[in-house]
Amino acid sequence: MRMIDLIQKKRDGAVLTKEEIDFFIGGYAAGEIPDYQVSALLMAIYFQDMTDDEITNLTMAMAYSGDVVDLSSIEGIKVDKHSTGGVGDATTLVLAPLVASVGVPVAKMSGRGLGHTGGTIDKFESIPNFQVEMSDEKFIQSVNEIGVAVIGQSGELAPADKLLYALRDVTGTVDSIPLIASSIMSKKIAAGADAIVLDVTVGDGAFMKSIDDAKRLAETMVRIGKRSNRHTKAIISDMSEPLGNAIGNGLEMVEAIDALNNRGPEDLMEVVYTLGSQMVVLAGVSATLEEARTLLHEALVDGRALEKFKELVENQHGDISYIDSPEKFMTAKYEIEFLSKETGIIAELVADNLGKAAMMLGAGRKTKDDKIDFAVGLKLNKKVGESVSTGDSIMTIYSNQSDVSDIEDLLYQSIQIGKDGVEPILIHAVIE
Ligand code: URA
Repeated sequence: MRMIDLIQKKRDGAVLTKEEIDFFIGGYAAGEIPDYQVSALLMAIYFQDMTDDEITNLTMAMAYSGDVVDLSSIEGIKVDKHSTGGVGDATTLVLAPLVASVGVPVAKMSGRGLGHTGGTIDKFESIPNFQVEMSDEKFIQSVNEIGVAVIGQSGELAPADKLLYALRDVTGTVDSIPLIASSIMSKKIAAGADAIVLDVTVGDGAFMKSIDDAKRLAETMVRIGKRSNRHTKAIISDMSEPLGNAIGNGLEMVEAIDALNNRGPEDLMEVVYTLGSQMVVLAGVSATLEEARTLLHEALVDGRALEKFKELVENQHGDISYIDSPEKFMTAKYEIEFLSKETGIIAELVADNLGKAAMMLGAGRKTKDDKIDFAVGLKLNKKVGESVSTGDSIMTIYSNQSDVSDIEDLLYQSIQIGKDGVEPILIHAVIE
């Protein structure tokens, strides 16, 4: 088999066979096919698209290019959750202990943030001493004993995707639906789940900018999941403004602790309940979504979810005193109110710019080796659809630098204030 033939075939719109896809992924992962040929094939895929058979074969070839986690010694149906990325998205921090508290085993591998989007692992690390690394044995033992564990993604999970993603990043081939779908699903399959719930975000702060594209991506991933024998569902959630009120690692942890105390922001809780009830049904714990939602709500109100969170933190050596006293997270030197210059109704809070502003404060990384400042970020005091008057605080900036003028400039560009009422839509669709 020759790579040049595969490139020409895809360039001309033909369908690649399983053997050809295995050859391309196997050869690239082994360092036998050069970047320039893989780049050409990626660009051909970008323009010619792929059939479901091709995407499934690509997904499986990448999933099996490295370690595949075996979770079979954990009792019950293991349901994984994945978000395609967002700003201020503390969903997993609430969802993992919440669904675990009603009996769904949660063996979660999460990533770190890059650019304007945050990562769950960084958020957990805002709890002093919290360990995100664990042997496979300890990971499985933790889920069997307390029902939940959250760890960083191992380097050997879907290594072909890692190589391909780095190449896509520099060849203008990131925003291709078959390539995104296979990239995400390969990691989910390698992480060992029996069932998968996907949160496909849409809007300024997300990969997918239009609802049509988000639907296509979600439908593609759901079909791939089913073809590879993983029950898969997806929701399409809005990410044109940030989710919840906090952006920044420690601040989002405080928001999650509030949520586990039944004081969470409405939008965050709606995403948590929508995803959580799908997970509970897929795990076979409830028969219907309504029943699952009630079960989750009860566990939140009676404190079981918060207790489960404390068990999780304790099991991973985190300082539990922070959960009882969340004010301990609030250590930024400066709290600066960002004031409205107008009176009206908030029409837009551009999520990716707010994510960038938080990154400029030190809450995120520009390159993967940057160090994060857990204390800094933004807390929204107003959201889209709310009224403001001149001089009201739209948000609080938590900073360890006194001069935030460049950040304020970016924030002023990211906010639109209008005269008309706006009713933001949060969940656009559920794809099954
Ligand atoms: N997230 C992934 O893991 N891969 C993509 O291609 C895009 C988002």
